[in-house]
Amino acid sequence: MILGLETSCDDTCAAVVTDGGEIRSNVIASQGLLHARYGGVVPEIASRHHLELVNAVTADALERAGLRLADVSTVAVTRGPGLIGALLVGVSSAKALAASRRLPLVPVDHLHGHVTASMLGPHPIEPPFLCLVASGGHTFLARVDEPGAYTVLGQTLDDAAGEAFDKGARLLGLGYPGGPALDRLAREGDPEAHSFPRSAPGELDFSFSGLKTSLLYRLRDEPQASRADLAASYQRAIVAALTDRVRKALEREGLERLAIGGGVAANSELRSAMGELEAAVWVPPVELCTDNAAMIAGAARFLDPLPYPDYLALDASARLVG
Ligand code: KG4
Ligand code: ZN
Repeated sequence: MILGLETSCDDTCAAVVTDGGEIRSNVIASQGLLHARYGGVVPEIASRHHLELVNAVTADALERAGLRLADVSTVAVTRGPGLIGALLVGVSSAKALAASRRLPLVPVDHLHGHVTASMLGPHPIEPPFLCLVASGGHTFLARVDEPGAYTVLGQTLDDAAGEAFDKGARLLGLGYPGGPALDRLAREGDPEAHSFPRSAPGELDFSFSGLKTSLLYRLRDEPQASRADLAASYQRAIVAALTDRVRKALEREGLERLAIGGGVAANSELRSAMGELEAAVWVPPVELCTDNAAMIAGAARFLDPLPYPDYLALDASARLVG
């Protein structure tokens, strides 16, 4: 039984996963509404709330799994990348929990968690596979040959795809986080009504910042334009950029299986576009796409644990680890 903790951004998460990848519990306390009034995540507020919530969320994850801490064999925690103050709450809690019972601890790279989320549950994807992770903080393509590691094939050079959705939504007056609202509005619009730039920086890299500027100019120059048409066309441009790189990567790498993850994997147009690719596609349920601790405990299965007391000096890392 692996107890996982994840506090890299604004969700306080704890989960219990078995060695075989069965999810026994997956608790997510979202702070989303707290940050909405500021139009984005406020790091200091996030850290303070993690501190208030982490014990209750951990207790809840154990209770839902029908376990006590005594039944846990390993503790896993997100070490980075993320907001440093937020990460520190999870890392310190995990160290204390593990040390109290002399358990081993596994520090996990948050992105490795996203990449291997589709390896959880009754029908896990098997390497080799391609993974597209598109969230509010990250957008990249990874190749997975063995579950303990991944190779980044391409990534965004500026904004993440979720950030592009959120910034577009804000320009369209849809609030924060605007991805889901933009997705809904886009269903009522014509995706061919406007053409937005689909820049291609590197073969497998992404760039979304020009798109947002282009929407800003379009709103200024055509104030009467239908918001639904703008939303649909803007979403089409993001989805087309993601789909295009995924298709190229599948071909170039000779891969036949694809997993998608990150909050943007909840997007309805992206889901249907991925379904049309010539690959077997794994799209985990939304609670495994967005930040969660089950993916952290799941990734820990493939990594070497640090024995007690080797991890007592372990530090969180705001940047990518390893
Ligand atoms: O993975 P996530 O929950 O948090 C991190 O950023 O790590 O991703 C959140 C992002 C936000 O930018 C949100 O707007 C976007 O995912 N998102 C969506 C949809 N649902 C969430 N974007 C487009 N369409 C959606 N349906
Ligand atoms: Zn994430």
